[in-house]
Formats: sequence, C-alpha cells, structure tokens
Amino acid sequence: MTENMKNEFDFLIKDILEDEHFLATKKDLHHGTSKYEHCLRVSKLSYKLSKIFKADSKVSARAGLLHDFFFGTRKEKPENSYLRHPVTAADNAKKYFNVSDIEAEAIKTHMFHQVVLKKLFPFINYQEKASIKEFKPKSKEGWIICASDLIVSVVECERFQFSYVANVALLLLFNIILFKN
Ligand SMILES: [Fe+2]
Ligand SMILES: [Fe+2]
Repeated sequence: MTENMKNEFDFLIKDILEDEHFLATKKDLHHGTSKYEHCLRVSKLSYKLSKIFKADSKVSARAGLLHDFFFGTRKEKPENSYLRHPVTAADNAKKYFNVSDIEAEAIKTHMFHQVVLKKLFPFINYQEKASIKEFKPKSKEGWIICASDLIVSVVECERFQFSYVANVALLLLFNIILFKN
C-alpha cells in the first residue's frame, strides 16, 4: 500500500478500531487467530481490491472490518452459527456503527461461498438453511468482501492444511454415501 492509501485506509476505519465493542472481538478465537485480526486482514484486502476494481473504498473497508462482528464463537449461540452469523454481524454493524444499507448487505452476504458449497454438498452443516437468492452479494463491494474473506480464511487455515484436506475428503465421502440417490 502507498502512504496515501495507508492514510486513507486508517482514516476510514479509525472510529471502529477504537470502539470498545469492536475491541471485544480481540478475545474471540477465529481460524486460529483473533477475530479482530481476521477482520482487519479482510478489511485491508477488501480496501486494496476496491482500488483495483473501482469499487467504493469506504464501503469495502468498513463492511470488510465488520463482516464477522458478532460476540463469542460460532458455536456458542444459534445466531452465531456458520451460516447465520453474517445476519448477526450486519445487525450489530447497524446497531453500533449505523452502517449504510449497502454496507449491511455486503456483510450479510459474505458467506456466499459457503452457501454455494452447502448446496453442492448438502452434508455440510445439514441442520442449517440458507438460500442462494438471499445470500448472493448484491453489489461489487459485496463480491469483494466475500472473495477477501475466502482468501484470508484459506491463508489463515494454511497451518492446519493437512487436517483441512482430510476433513474435506471425509465430508465428500460422507456426502457421496448419504446422498447418492
Ligand atoms: Fe464470517
Ligand atoms: Fe470472516
């Protein structure tokens, strides 16, 4: 990032980074790192991609930062679950930071990659329901945040690569056995 971009990025997210509610995400573990660090990485990448794809940098940086803004882990409460936490994060972003509709929508659709995966392999999180129509990104910024989250998550999970690959292989196997008809 150039010095100008770094300054602009810092300016766009400063109020969120200093907020006590957002600072609480430092306590939550996410992909083997803190949720705070994960969200900051997604925000930075979204901001950079917004410059490349001529999207709104403010929306990309702020929605990227708030995309996982929920309290506790995904297993603690039903509203924090694998496919529902984007709705919770969007509601929290509205409540604490009064984000715009386009920012809230980009937060809500950031797990679209997992919704598609679930449609392809129904065994994954079979208890959860999520519609393609509802969770498909509706803006360029929404697609950017979805892609950034996927890229950052894969990089963060790299050190768990062997178990990650083994888990995916097992899921595929179960999926074939259970849904072959
Ligand atoms: Fe997420
Ligand atoms: Fe995330």
